[in-house]
Amino acid sequence: MNPSLLLAILCLGLASALPILDYRFDAKWQEWKLMYGKTYDMNEELYRRAIWEKNMKMIEIHNEEYKEGKHSFTLAMNDFGDMTKKEIRERMMGLKIPKKKKGMVFQERLTGDVPDYVDWRGRGYVTPVMNQGACNACWAFSAAGALEGQMFRKTGRLVALSKQNLVDCSQPQGNDGCSGGWMDHAFEYVYENGGLDSEAAYPYEDQEGPCRYRPEYSAATDTGTVYIPSSEEVLKRAVAIVGPISAAIDASHDSFNYYIGGIYDEPACSNTSVNHAVLVVGYGYERQQSQIRKYWLVKNSWGTNWGIRGYIKIARDENNYCGIASYASFPTV
Ligand SMILES: *[C@@H]1O[C@H](CO)[C@@H](O)[C@H](O)[C@H]1NC(C)=O
Repeated sequence: MNPSLLLAILCLGLASALPILDYRFDAKWQEWKLMYGKTYDMNEELYRRAIWEKNMKMIEIHNEEYKEGKHSFTLAMNDFGDMTKKEIRERMMGLKIPKKKKGMVFQERLTGDVPDYVDWRGRGYVTPVMNQGACNACWAFSAAGALEGQMFRKTGRLVALSKQNLVDCSQPQGNDGCSGGWMDHAFEYVYENGGLDSEAAYPYEDQEGPCRYRPEYSAATDTGTVYIPSSEEVLKRAVAIVGPISAAIDASHDSFNYYIGGIYDEPACSNTSVNHAVLVVGYGYERQQSQIRKYWLVKNSWGTNWGIRGYIKIARDENNYCGIASYASFPTV
């Protein structure tokens, strides 16, 4: 082996496990690189291929087990394929959870019937899925999504709101741009700033920049935050009555990174330690084998190649799966 190649591998921390590549994946690897426009130098190629192959095998095994009825969701290779779990985590998550929930507590109509099935997308409340890219701005996407829904409810017009505006400008409220933030702080910024620009006027850049808010392009305002008490029953009511709701979940598992369909019920998902912000846009149930499984319909910000065209169904009424009801909130407008 070429000594410089060996050195590079050692530096990348693969010394104890020099990858033995499985040639059955050669064509797929070339295809995948082409599809996502990946190019590496020779040393990195080997390292990335080994990671990708490990992920590919994990996905194959999971999907085989799915066919045997061991899982209720399937996985697929995607853009994350050549990244380690740690790299994905560093890139895609970004929640700074405050010690105290600030805002009002949801207590509207806690009794009475709500529908068994809700999907706000069909009612004009939800903008298209975007990709947060390499910026840890999940909190901004979640907050903008909840505000877009409430603005639609108020005005009858659906306008995509600027995540970049939140990333660049809400530091005084406690957010940290591409290093993470919190939805409540974003709602607070919009209130204190007296507006939030539209996505069209202040488009997403996938990196932090100087604050360039222009009041003449503001498309939303809010008056405060309402917290949902940590209960799936109350969250269901809030989603049914109010519209799309911001939530935080544990998204730190490989199965989440490669999710493509079905009802997500990763056994390792924590219902207490959350690390990713999303938008709950509905809920429902479906038949799986002989069981009725209930789910939350959740919008993510990882593009439309991920999940069900950008969405995920997370198991509902199963002990607060992935912590979905622990930090749910929405802005009042
Ligand atoms: C978390 O799940 C466990 C069971 O797995 C359950 O006993 C507990 O009540 C849940 N915690 C919350 C906060 O919902």
